[in-house]
Amino acid sequence: MKAIDIRNKYLNFFERHGHKIIPSAPLIPENDPSVLFTTAGMQPLVPYLLGEKHPEGTRLTDYQKCLRTNDIEEVGDNRHLTYFEMLGNWSLGDYFKKESIQMSFEFLTKELEIPVEKLSVTCFAGNEEAPKDEEAAKYWKEAGIPEERIYFLKDNWWIAGEEGPCGPDTEIFYDTGKEPCSKNCNPDCDCGKYVEIWNNVFMQYFKHKDGTLTKLKQHNVDTGLGLERMTMLLQGKKTPYETELFAPMMEHLEKLAKVDDIHSRRIVAEHLRASMMIIADGGRPSNIDRGYILRRLIRRMIRHLRKLEINLEETKDLIYLNIEILKEMYPYLEENKQTITQVIIEEKDKFVATLSHGEREFEKAVAKAEQEGKKSIDGKTVFRLYDTFGFPPEITEELAKEQGFKINMQEFEELFKMHQEKSRLGSEQKFKGGLAEQNEITTAYHTATHLLHEALREVLGEHVKQNGSNITSERLRFDFTHPQKMTKEEIQKVEDLVNEQIQKDLAVTCEEMSYEDAKKSGAIGLFTDKYGDKVKVYAIGDFSKEICGGPHVSHTGELGKFKIKKEESSSSGVRRIKAILIQE
Ligand code: ALA
Repeated sequence: MKAIDIRNKYLNFFERHGHKIIPSAPLIPENDPSVLFTTAGMQPLVPYLLGEKHPEGTRLTDYQKCLRTNDIEEVGDNRHLTYFEMLGNWSLGDYFKKESIQMSFEFLTKELEIPVEKLSVTCFAGNEEAPKDEEAAKYWKEAGIPEERIYFLKDNWWIAGEEGPCGPDTEIFYDTGKEPCSKNCNPDCDCGKYVEIWNNVFMQYFKHKDGTLTKLKQHNVDTGLGLERMTMLLQGKKTPYETELFAPMMEHLEKLAKVDDIHSRRIVAEHLRASMMIIADGGRPSNIDRGYILRRLIRRMIRHLRKLEINLEETKDLIYLNIEILKEMYPYLEENKQTITQVIIEEKDKFVATLSHGEREFEKAVAKAEQEGKKSIDGKTVFRLYDTFGFPPEITEELAKEQGFKINMQEFEELFKMHQEKSRLGSEQKFKGGLAEQNEITTAYHTATHLLHEALREVLGEHVKQNGSNITSERLRFDFTHPQKMTKEEIQKVEDLVNEQIQKDLAVTCEEMSYEDAKKSGAIGLFTDKYGDKVKVYAIGDFSKEICGGPHVSHTGELGKFKIKKEESSSSGVRRIKAILIQE
């Protein structure tokens, strides 16, 4: 079965069981500065898990494009992917453990025809905060999983990050048929016999910043099934790279490469796919946050193309081939072909320039070491080459070896860890900020963002598209596509146009409609996927119409005076505006 067939089977199955199919949210969360990328199907649904009413009701299903970056360095082995697709179904205060387990069991054994013998499950073993999940185990037994394949584990608890909705989970494992590694071999074991295929989270708690748990208003179910992994297992393949999602690219790379290295071929195929998906959803390379992740992905890909001794001029054809491979799953990639190609090629050219710059720096470091009579390049230099010149330590190591030098990798790694720790703390700070700040002021800034978006389109043209938005109680920040710096006159015009709308005290109204109707009505927003029915469309008088989850003020008069404080470059082809509202 192909990945797309598994996806369709899944959505249809849950649709038949009363779920509404909703569209995948973009990989780059809209109006959510708290996370860099969408990492799970539940992420765009957090408000609804907390009790807000979803326009589509209480049973939802979707495929969600996800990107997880904690394991970038692991990509190249036989299982880690950064980009993947998560199939999910949700109960928002509707069914709970029993139906969730029944449906999962039915889908796996009837729809996908997986023999029951292949399935094992794990349930929450309990701790001082929440009890052992005997209930889940009971339903598994009733469904047909024998007791000896039901395990209780302490780790069966799921939360995204440090704070938020969470609860005990039950995980479903597929037995690959490998010999058990020991007498105690079980799904908790990493030997490869058991592969996790589905996670059903019973979200009934909220974990607060101080670590305490409280009960949620409603009992939710949140599930996630990794599509690439499922495809691989059903096709009897050992890695996702052997499935139709990667195989044609892997074969092509093998033909082009002068060096035989499957690890590098996988990195190229995986990072190329992930980069293309991010770019299609509006991401652009830069030196911070999500832009930096994209930059790393592209650069790592280029480095491995070089390692394989593939001419970098091939990059464009690799992109085209990948569009052919992926367009059945993501038809909009074709529409974004030109942008994707341009962004990747530009970044490649920049990196190539950086590489030669870095190589010069490296020569200097060698000369210095020689002068000092050392046979090793210190970690600080390796880190500086990495941090300032984007020069990967592996390349430094390779070059050093050629000249009979070693590098102090341990010292580099210590510095690198310190650096990572700092950025992790930074992202956690952001995560907190993003969730904490939902108040009257940020709501006003949110409405102002819609006015700004439309005003930019009127003044600069319809090519203006939102590329990112970040709101705090102090200001709004809006990134949008536009090829050049705005002139003073343009900035003034935009500011005036927004203030005119505020003075008119326009009513802000919200209507729920189908995705198709929203598109037809001229509402702006991201139209990347074909699935899903209802969305919320916020209209501000006749001035603006935009697909959005809200919340917004009721009348624009509440906004005060709008002032643009700064217009600057955000990344290539993307401008950034910072603006404030002044209450008079
Ligand atoms: N949110 C759960 C996960 O990502 C389903 O595993």
